Amino acid sequence: MFTQQDLELAFSKYKVSNLVGISEKAFYEKLTGEIGRVDHEIEGYKTSELEQQRDLSLKFHWGHNHDFGSFKLEGRMGDRHLNLLSTFCDLFDVPSGYFENKNILDVGCWTGGTTLLLSALGANVTAVEEVQKYANMAEFLAQSFGLQDSVKVHKKSLYNLTEPHLKNAFDAVYFPGVVYHLSDPVLGLRRLYNTLKLGGELFVESAGINVKEPYCKFQGNYVTTEKGGREELSRGGWNWFMPSPSALERMIKEAGFDDIQSVWDDKTKRVFAFARKVQHKPICKAGFSVPDID
Ligand SMILES: C[S@@+](CC[C@H](N)C(=O)[O-])C[C@H]1O[C@@H](n2cnc3c(N)ncnc32)[C@H](O)[C@@H]1O
Repeated sequence: MFTQQDLELAFSKYKVSNLVGISEKAFYEKLTGEIGRVDHEIEGYKTSELEQQRDLSLKFHWGHNHDFGSFKLEGRMGDRHLNLLSTFCDLFDVPSGYFENKNILDVGCWTGGTTLLLSALGANVTAVEEVQKYANMAEFLAQSFGLQDSVKVHKKSLYNLTEPHLKNAFDAVYFPGVVYHLSDPVLGLRRLYNTLKLGGELFVESAGINVKEPYCKFQGNYVTTEKGGREELSRGGWNWFMPSPSALERMIKEAGFDDIQSVWDDKTKRVFAFARKVQHKPICKAGFSVPDID
């Protein structure tokens, strides 16, 4: 199993001393020039829509903490890229070497911290991110570290992972921190199911509720749950459905998966799940949001 130190060591290769084809100065200026920039145009929002959008989509926030050697960036996600992977390893006995030479889909990559980590562990990584500026940054980082052959970034929503070459393509889907941000989690999970090969594995982590019953808490854009203004809270990082472990398990099952484990992790106060695509199962189409889905 990976230890936290293994992961820190793997990630520590992404220092300015290992840049390829770009100067340290140009690299630094590109990264720091983006942070805090209000740039909703790149996301394609109309002015009349802005009030309803997430702050994270309207303004550039760095994702995961990164020590580049000559400078460090602190991200909204802190060290989640490292902590999550070691929690998955502990909970589901993921062996060290698991990612080597595997095709991994990293869903909701933000500025690419997890994408780089998975690549450092030997994976061929395809990342997907709906916020254009973050997807662009993840791609820029991958190129700057010479990873263009083994890291690809799709600048779109996971709902749109429908091209034929993305079907049955991945050994594992890595899906932390996103399912509760989806208005349609079962559709999202089915799209990911369709990208997996037979025998492919799913890793999910989610905000959630710690109850036994298969319940979800609906939050949505209009709810502010803590102290602070709407700008900081609702628009900053709101959630749609926050599932209990058994609710997430049922959603994963509806999407077609087998061998499902879904647990509440007391240390992080989040839900962690693992599942496998054992066979290609049909999905129930009654009331489904995309009736012609396969
Ligand atoms: C809370 S962050 C989690 C980042 C990272 N996966 C992690 O766990 O540390 C959620 C990320 O998922 C992205 N995201 C949300 N909905 C998405 C969707 N439908 N398709 C692709 N990315 C999405 C967000 O833009 C954001 O970058």
